[in-house]
Amino acid sequence: MKMTVIGCGYLGATHAACMAELGHEVLGVDVDAAKIDSLAAGTVPFFEPNLDDVLKRNIAAGRLRFTTDLAEAASFARVHFLGVGTPQQPTSGAADLTALRTAVRELIGHLRGRHLIVGKSTVPVGTCAELADEIAALSRSATIELAWNPEFLREGFAVDDTLRPDRIVVGTDPRHPDSDAADRIAQVYRAILEDGTPYLTMDWATAELVKVSANAFLATKISFINAISEICEVAGGDVTALADAIGHDARIGRRFLNAGLGFGGGCLPKDIRAFAARAQELGVGDALAFLREVDEVNMRRRAALVGLVEKACDGSVLGRNVAVLGAAFKPESDDVRDSPALAVAAQLSLRGARVSVFDPKAMGNAARVFPTLRYAESARDAARGADAVIVATEWAEFVHMSPAELSTVVSRRLIVDARRCLDGDAWRAAGWEYRALGSSAVATPTATAELVDAPQTSDFLV
Ligand code: UDX
Repeated sequence: MKMTVIGCGYLGATHAACMAELGHEVLGVDVDAAKIDSLAAGTVPFFEPNLDDVLKRNIAAGRLRFTTDLAEAASFARVHFLGVGTPQQPTSGAADLTALRTAVRELIGHLRGRHLIVGKSTVPVGTCAELADEIAALSRSATIELAWNPEFLREGFAVDDTLRPDRIVVGTDPRHPDSDAADRIAQVYRAILEDGTPYLTMDWATAELVKVSANAFLATKISFINAISEICEVAGGDVTALADAIGHDARIGRRFLNAGLGFGGGCLPKDIRAFAARAQELGVGDALAFLREVDEVNMRRRAALVGLVEKACDGSVLGRNVAVLGAAFKPESDDVRDSPALAVAAQLSLRGARVSVFDPKAMGNAARVFPTLRYAESARDAARGADAVIVATEWAEFVHMSPAELSTVVSRRLIVDARRCLDGDAWRAAGWEYRALGSSAVATPTATAELVDAPQTSDFLV
């Protein structure tokens, strides 16, 4: 089949490459010429394992091309996926749909005949109904249907999650129950569905809600264990052993119960805020009031880490050398949007610490957001002369660091495990003082200053 993917950020670029991998002829479209040039040359403008290979292979096979021209997209195919970003509005927290609306308006201006537009971006419930009215009003010389097919991919696993998803969800127009839109989309995913992947069709509103509910649930699960972590820190108790024990209950499950520095990235924080803002608009703000608490528990983890480091440094980090290992919001990603690691590094720096940051992939993005921090060449380089070493993102190379080897460069053997990913006994055995979020001896920060705003920018990402 022929199809276009409009918006080639994280979501769109992955979708375009993976649809070509399924054998389709795909045209990727974006307003950003530099991004399109890079993708057309076979270079993914962000780090995502395996995506480069899929991109290059499909460009070489002639199944995948890129353009900035929506008129070309309109004549190339009759199925158009939307992967345009829906970022957070700075004041209200609601989703900003400007780019999405602009893309749809411009596309339909070029469409003739019968077309299917399939949204993949995360949107507030009610968006499809609104967009469909606008499409109907503007499309005089075309018959255009709209469906919503939310994307659940995780960064770091984007290719695998797209080609082997847990489920495919498609929402269609409830006013046209006999539409064949869901069948046409099933054709796109035929190869995936043949593997037994559940194909769930529903109305627009339910599909829109499935995506934000899934992310709200995941965020709640993380904040739940981090709230329990706060209790462990004062009452004693090991939150990892606790998570293992409750996770054995199949109704709870162990995944997404890793306590630590909490969630960040371009999705979970913005999606729970947009969901709560939408509930408020709908007059049912109370229903999602708990999401504010989920957000607050999450942000408190950053303050708790700053407090832990200050306490371990006798009350103040002023003039201390602190190594922060990790800048990406999670491993296997170079994304620093709302990164807990980077927010903590910036806060420690504001409190007078000499902070040295190292991340295997996110150094460039981190330096663009917080240019005043020192960026080291390696974990060892960051730790040179350090009074405290913090593991803030659980990259495998940090998890497997040798305590003995790092001992030779630090000025004090203090390791702070903000992701509970290290073998504490091994570090202690090598003479280190080992501290972790979720164990006793975590303090709140000494000053009342608010934590700095988390970094948001990373414009090539959806
Ligand atoms: C998330 C959703 O998982 C995905 O389905 C959706 O499409 C986009 O948002 P992603 O942002 O890539 O994906 O990251 P995810 O793996 O979900 O992790 C989110 C954050 O939660 C990270 O900062 C991670 O470090 C943190 N996390 C995750 C925890 O703190 N504890 C956990 O147990 C799991």
